[in-house]
Amino acid sequence: MRQPERGTDLTDLQTDRPHPARIYDYWLGGKDNFLPDRQAAEHAISAAADIPAAARENRAFLRRAVQLAARSGVRQFIDVGAGLPSPGNVHQVAQSVDPQVRVVYVDNDPIVLTHGRALLVDNRSTTVLTGDVRELDELFERPELRALVDLSQPVAVLLLAVLHFVTDEQAREAVRQVYERVAPGSYLLLSHSTHEGNPERAAEVAKTWDKTASGIRLRTRAQVTELFEGWELLEPGVEFVPLWRPEGEGATDASTRWMYAGVGRKS
Ligand SMILES: C[S@@+](CC[C@H](N)C(=O)[O-])C[C@H]1O[C@@H](n2cnc3c(N)ncnc32)[C@H](O)[C@@H]1O
Repeated sequence: MRQPERGTDLTDLQTDRPHPARIYDYWLGGKDNFLPDRQAAEHAISAAADIPAAARENRAFLRRAVQLAARSGVRQFIDVGAGLPSPGNVHQVAQSVDPQVRVVYVDNDPIVLTHGRALLVDNRSTTVLTGDVRELDELFERPELRALVDLSQPVAVLLLAVLHFVTDEQAREAVRQVYERVAPGSYLLLSHSTHEGNPERAAEVAKTWDKTASGIRLRTRAQVTELFEGWELLEPGVEFVPLWRPEGEGATDASTRWMYAGVGRKS
């Protein structure tokens, strides 16, 4: 698994090769991307025109799942693999339930820190840290995180569209570390790319990440479900993103099948 080295120069945005945060930003209609990101993003679209819709549906899942946690009383959130700021960021959704909510954004891509400082740290209840989903033990000890998050109280940890960038073992370990660190009543919000909804197009779409540092690992529903071991998996379990508690008219036949979503609760 190729990933940026620890201690990556924060000023080196590596604009000569595609990065997941910027590819995703392009699909969401953002402007924080460079030519290699756009070329990779366009490759995916040429293989599967519904990929940008899948990215939007993932953001809609973020909104539904964050609302669920906030309405259940959770007042602190840690968003790992947060990505570039996009309308409906976690603090905007959660603070619409309670303005006192605190949010820590974490990403291993320095561009997220650069842009996040301007757009996500908009009040004293949010911060953006550079950190890695493969090093959550270290992250949970960081004074900047502890300044906003009281680990004796319930917290919602988001691992949305990020675990497909690490190995099976690293993904299991990340979820295990979250479970061990958080208090009862905490939530795990998770989404993950899969080939199962589009078996004939997935291999071509997966090439989108060939030139990124991490590549991508598409996983099955069973593998994603296994990540929730120990957690109380809320209804409807692990489901395609648009089918996870759809709102309004609900999912349509046009809904995408590129990602699974699930929400777990620590009893
Ligand atoms: C597809 S974006 C998802 C953004 C957001 N979580 C969402 O679902 O809307 C994936 C993000 O994960 C980040 N990422 C990739 N590997 C990571 C790692 N090992 N540790 C932390 N973040 C990582 C990327 O930089 C990118 O910002």
